[in-house]
Amino acid sequence: MRIAVTGGAGYIGSHTVLELLDRGYEVIVIDDLSHGYRHNVPPGLLREITLSDTAAVKAALAEKPVDAVIHFAAFISVGESMQRPELYFQNNTCASLSLFTAMLQAGVRKLVFSSTAAVYGMPQSVPIREEFPYAPVNVYGESKVMVEKILDWFDPIHQFKSVCLRYFNASGADPQGRRGEEHQPETHLIPLLFRAIETGEPVKVFGGDYATPDGTCIRDYIHVTDLAQAHLFAVEHLLAGGASEKFNAGTGSGFSVKQMIESVERVTGKKVPYEIGPRRDGDPPELVADSGKLQRVLGWKPRFAQLDEIVRTAWNFERSRVISH
Ligand code: UFG
Repeated sequence: MRIAVTGGAGYIGSHTVLELLDRGYEVIVIDDLSHGYRHNVPPGLLREITLSDTAAVKAALAEKPVDAVIHFAAFISVGESMQRPELYFQNNTCASLSLFTAMLQAGVRKLVFSSTAAVYGMPQSVPIREEFPYAPVNVYGESKVMVEKILDWFDPIHQFKSVCLRYFNASGADPQGRRGEEHQPETHLIPLLFRAIETGEPVKVFGGDYATPDGTCIRDYIHVTDLAQAHLFAVEHLLAGGASEKFNAGTGSGFSVKQMIESVERVTGKKVPYEIGPRRDGDPPELVADSGKLQRVLGWKPRFAQLDEIVRTAWNFERSRVISH
């Protein structure tokens, strides 16, 4: 079986490529390296193509028959999406449509799509279930909602089957240390906590006055390898003739920013310098998935359920990076 992975040079994509290769799949990676890294892609797999080039994507999909596509490639910064919405609608929505057009032309009709908890906006309650309404509060979330809606029409019209995985907070690194989180610029909490330890510059905690037990925001941190496995199960569901589905991809457990700081301190044995700053615009107080559907339908289960285990894999990767640079 041959799987094309867009955005396979990025954080979650590159971990999923490893999962697929480890399971014996043939893989090609379609990535323009605008955010991903060449060193994340094993030799021979990379097709350096931008998704908006429909003809080039079709040619890559037609080199040898591809059975399914896993589509990660996207811009992911919520803050930037509110300053430059055109970039996000272009790169996340229009480029996805270009990919789907190329897939139709190449006769590939199975897709796993990277969606996000941001499609729910500020949920009325937690845990969040898949039937909760679309209510994005930023352009990033809206750009993903639009793709989900395109896919809803493509199923009955083109018999195009898709699984949308709505990610909560992807975190951690490959337990064997082969890949990890390397965003440029980095906006995610765990790498920023490591940076604070390394530089001594305090990290800003965005808000200490939320109606949560310790006043800081709560998120559902899902280990990137568990998330990669969810993609594997999703693609296998489609390859087996399964129906289109949408799943939350989270663990079902929430941790606050302060709990994350404590975990990083336990794992690293070092103090994290931090200060409580103002709230960040558009941050929901609590985002926790009900992941029952993913567990029931795909038989998925998080292997990294303890926060310290997640942080430990991230810290191991961070140390190897510091040593190798
Ligand atoms: N945080 C801080 N200080 C920082 C960075 C983050 O306090 O310097 C806090 C945030 O307020 C949040 C938590 O740490 O409570 C996690 O923040 P991240 O920026 O790591 O992740 P988000 O929850 O904001 O974003 C994630 C994904 C996005 C996705 C969003 C969906 O990274 O791609 O969930 O809501 F859009």
